[in-house]
Amino acid sequence: MNINEPEKLLDAIRTKTLKTAERIGNKIPYTTENGVFDDLTEKNISWWTNGFWAGMLWQLYGAYGNTIFRDIAEWTEKQLDRVLLDPIGMDHDSGFRWLTTAGASYILTGSEISKNRLITAANDLAGRFNLAGGFIRAWNDSGDGSAAGWAIIDCMMNLPLLYRASDMLNDPRFRLIAMCHADTAMTAFVREDGSVCHIVEFDPDTGRRLMSRGGQGYGHGSSWTRGQAWGIYGFTLSYMHTNKCEYLDTAVKIADRFVSRIPANGLVPVDFDQPEAPAYEDSTAAAIAACGLIELARCSDDRKYHSAALELLNALTESRLCLDGNCDNLLKKCTAAYHDEQHEFAIIYGDYFFTEAVAKLCGKETFIW
Ligand code: GLY
Repeated sequence: MNINEPEKLLDAIRTKTLKTAERIGNKIPYTTENGVFDDLTEKNISWWTNGFWAGMLWQLYGAYGNTIFRDIAEWTEKQLDRVLLDPIGMDHDSGFRWLTTAGASYILTGSEISKNRLITAANDLAGRFNLAGGFIRAWNDSGDGSAAGWAIIDCMMNLPLLYRASDMLNDPRFRLIAMCHADTAMTAFVREDGSVCHIVEFDPDTGRRLMSRGGQGYGHGSSWTRGQAWGIYGFTLSYMHTNKCEYLDTAVKIADRFVSRIPANGLVPVDFDQPEAPAYEDSTAAAIAACGLIELARCSDDRKYHSAALELLNALTESRLCLDGNCDNLLKKCTAAYHDEQHEFAIIYGDYFFTEAVAKLCGKETFIW
């Protein structure tokens, strides 16, 4: 299979996913156990990745119309209502959970209840905004306030939920909050060389920037590749929703740095600054960056970003893609965090963003962001 024939590739993804969906039925997978998708429906319904399988099914439903994809995605969306009613389960990743489910459903079916879920999720996300510092709080803590000042680069991908809520309600409040967070992120997260940090801690009372943290990357000051990818795609999306040129400039700056560090084989490490050994890889970072670079190429009218996206997708297709029935996942060698015990396994958002990227190349994407 070849990235230069994206229609064939997307069709092969559809064929494989159809078999998997028919076999497993209603499940919310995160990873695989012995090649078989696990299920977080009862184990951890609040987990931030729980919209991605449904999102992938919506992408394939939008492209091909197989009803089983829609049925499972709609079932997933209903399961997530338990999270919407649980303030402990809610965090800043509402875009990841509801743009992939309710948002996609609203675009493809016009469902009013999906629209209501989207607005409810947007209200919650807007409620995490801290006026001091102008940032959206990332995670919850166990009641001691220790995470009250934490914001993370990943949140740039959740801002489209706010932009969309403003459009739906004809009310600028959500967009203004999103732009305030994006403005803060430009100065607080993006370094002079175009790399970005993962976590920034602010004083939640005064808004003063206190420090950055290494988070899921190798260490303080390093370049966690998925964080760089969230930055490329996230700032590009903020530009697409607002036309504010500084967001496009920022996406270009992060992308230039990222592209300059892609290894010769096109396979992306967990962190650009990790030691030579162990050489842990993260296929999710490559897939997410590819999606961002394709959009950035369109927005900046610069084909070099499209070429870089093809380089990443080509490497994944040739050596990290599993299209046979031996495993439920598509991508191999995904890594959640550098210092975790487990590395290089299947992760559902890798599959989602790979599918989204291939659908983009075919002109068959349902644009959910
Ligand atoms: N948003 C968390 C991660 O990228 O792992």
